[in-house]
Amino acid sequence: MSIRVAVIGAGTVGGGVIDILRKNKDILTANAGQDIVLTHVCELNEDALKEFDLSGVTVTQDASSLFNNPEVDVVCELIGGVGAAKTLTLEALKAGKHVVTANKMLLAYHGPELTEAALSGGVELRYEAAVAGGIPIIKALREGLAANHIEHAYGILNGTCNYILSRMTYEGLAFDDVLKQAMDLGFAETPPDLDIEGHDTAHKCQIMASLCYASKVDLESISVEGITGITGEDVEYAREMGYLIKLLAVVRLVDGEIDARVHPALVPETHLLASVRNEFNAIYVQGDMTDATLYYGKGAGRLPTASAVVADIVDIARAGDTPSPPPFHYRNDYPLRDPGLLEGRYYLRLTTKDVPGVFGIVGKILGDHGISIASCFQKDPHGVDRVRVIIMTHESRESSLRAALAEIDAHDFSVEPAAALRVIEE
Ligand code: HSE
Repeated sequence: MSIRVAVIGAGTVGGGVIDILRKNKDILTANAGQDIVLTHVCELNEDALKEFDLSGVTVTQDASSLFNNPEVDVVCELIGGVGAAKTLTLEALKAGKHVVTANKMLLAYHGPELTEAALSGGVELRYEAAVAGGIPIIKALREGLAANHIEHAYGILNGTCNYILSRMTYEGLAFDDVLKQAMDLGFAETPPDLDIEGHDTAHKCQIMASLCYASKVDLESISVEGITGITGEDVEYAREMGYLIKLLAVVRLVDGEIDARVHPALVPETHLLASVRNEFNAIYVQGDMTDATLYYGKGAGRLPTASAVVADIVDIARAGDTPSPPPFHYRNDYPLRDPGLLEGRYYLRLTTKDVPGVFGIVGKILGDHGISIASCFQKDPHGVDRVRVIIMTHESRESSLRAALAEIDAHDFSVEPAAALRVIEE
């Protein structure tokens, strides 16, 4: 007995899948209880196939030809994006093929429609590789933590951003130089805007929030900030105060509302997430029964991501004809929480003229909005006519903070708009 697999897209991840199916055939057969056989590869770029031994495999450029082919049981959609990938995935599901995808953007935009198609086709749609690559976080949330209400999950979900922030932190390198290295190393998307502007993390955040709370989550309503505004000074000042800066996906349920957001945050040096360096990913999940749990590993790259794709194929093979749970349950209808309601501590970076009275006015504006200063410092500007004022607040409401910063920015003494970073506590 065997399960027959077609791979659409033989790029980084697809190529890794082809490699793993060959190299780890023995363990795959043992774990799946049957052979997993690569029968078809669909790839438009013939050059991409030169590195593989595809003897016995049918190579095609026509993905649709796979869907009515009785010799294909599972289709791996590994082309990415939401154009052709969506059409092909829906076509495959409707034709009764199981689909495995690594496509976080597709799921984040079209999860409900794809779920519907999988259910009506009576087939599986699996996506372990879509969030945190080689870390089995989807399985952990769907199965391992099934006895828990998830109180919150914090994820470092973008290898490129974590690599950039780590090297800025530990080697004092400049943002642009490190970004170029991340691109050379192959973690970053091309172009890297999806990474550094936070959207790649938002796609993964949307998937995690939908899973944790069994509710539809509108991707476009998730508040997203990337790391392009983070300066070497922020990294340095945060460290002086005992924090590291990480790009986080935050998922929580607060008063019956889903708080899902993506932003850089100050994480205490003693927090487990602070030790996650370079391109590694991690997800810190607080279950009401488990307490804190941590999942760590490589979230990007050829083999770690392909490993998750192949694990999904193994699960499909193991399940056989037993119906599996749907890709997403949407049994709840929680609204997304207004980010202005967030309560927390904030790191503020103000850039002001070096003139008398600035501290007094800033303190008064913050105070008028109910924001209390926990610590504050300014470095001697050494003759430059502008200064950085760094403030750590006590717990404050985000809407009040934004209103206060708008007032500060409107003052003559403000040279650049104020920057605010949220602080994650233990
Ligand atoms: N560009 C992504 C990253 C790849 O850097 O994590 C995995 O989604």
